[in-house]
Amino acid sequence: MPRPPDFSTHIGSLSSRVFSGLAAKAAELRASGATVHMLSVGDTFEEPPPSARVDTLTTDTLPGIHKYAPPGGLPILLDAASDRTERLGRRVPTDRLQIMSGATAGLSVITETLLDVGDEVLLPSPFWPLIRGIIAKRGATPVQVPLMHALAEMDVEAALEAKVTDRTVALYVNTPHNPTGAVAPAAAEDAFVRVAQRHDLWLIFDEAYQDLHFGEPRAPLWTRDDVQDRYVACHTLSKSYGMAGARIGYAHGSADVTRALRGVQAFSTYSAPTPMQVSGARALNDGDEFLERRRELFAVAGNETAEVLGIDRPAGGTFLFFDATPYFRDGETDALPFLDRCLDAGVLMTPGAACGTDFASWVRICFTSEPIDEHRDALERLAGVLRA
Ligand SMILES: Cc1ncc(COP(=O)(O)O)c(C=O)c1O
Repeated sequence: MPRPPDFSTHIGSLSSRVFSGLAAKAAELRASGATVHMLSVGDTFEEPPPSARVDTLTTDTLPGIHKYAPPGGLPILLDAASDRTERLGRRVPTDRLQIMSGATAGLSVITETLLDVGDEVLLPSPFWPLIRGIIAKRGATPVQVPLMHALAEMDVEAALEAKVTDRTVALYVNTPHNPTGAVAPAAAEDAFVRVAQRHDLWLIFDEAYQDLHFGEPRAPLWTRDDVQDRYVACHTLSKSYGMAGARIGYAHGSADVTRALRGVQAFSTYSAPTPMQVSGARALNDGDEFLERRRELFAVAGNETAEVLGIDRPAGGTFLFFDATPYFRDGETDALPFLDRCLDAGVLMTPGAACGTDFASWVRICFTSEPIDEHRDALERLAGVLRA
């Protein structure tokens, strides 16, 4: 049936109005010349490792760089990603790897590949805000399970079990985690896997922060023998190598899963941008020292942020998440007035409501957006609001 001016019903729940008022005010303040530390978005201030920068890409040295790449990915990047998986704990051969245009697009391809309209996905909350919309725009239902803010204390298995229905087909797992900065302990990892096995669910592993752990690294979940028949993992170079604008990532699963992903990917963007695939290969091959130093820098910024907030230090990632209730004034029922006071002091952060319906009184802060001196200025301003 013709239907202009109506859009797909699947996009109905996508807009994020909870944040737009603050973002508009931040833009006005910046336009007026005021300092606003943008600690809302998980970007980083550093340029990528030297060999991976766009400055190095020339048609003289890389003839054909503007042509399409094969839908599966450029062989040099597939090889580099395969080597990287070996360093992470389990080599994934190139025929089981699919290059993606970053993890946002990659997870869209994954949800289109695995999910049908009406399916339910267990979504541990709080969560990375975009994942809810990625699942919803597929026409599937993200079923929020509040547990990531209290992984050590919660009975993770019971919380997930309580939300399983006969329409549940997948469980999304992200560790190290946006927004809490937590790394799932072994007991939680086992619970994720047991629930998936018991109910025959796909496990969707979002590995965006796989390299950003501040303690001893844990073997990634996708390296476990007992998930090989039911996992899809999605990685990105955005966070590890400061390449968010390059839009490069990679995904993998069993041979059947990867074949299916490749089919869907071809109908999505056909292939990821060729020049950025070259840069991505260089980052993966040459970036280990860069990563090592980055982890150290980020851990310092994360620890100082945790100290100001009086919460546990991050175990990984680029964010912390805190309950702002102690800073509410009389009559306030969610974190928005507190966030507004922080913005007046020059610090923009994300309302916890964007990370799940149970977190309206919480706040997400990124500790990797700015060099440490600027971040310290943001923390001083924030401390002033906390004390007020
Ligand atoms: C948990 C998580 N997954 C995926 C992404 C998306 O990464 P990309 O930049 O590759 O789209 C992000 C970005 O913030 C993230 O935090």
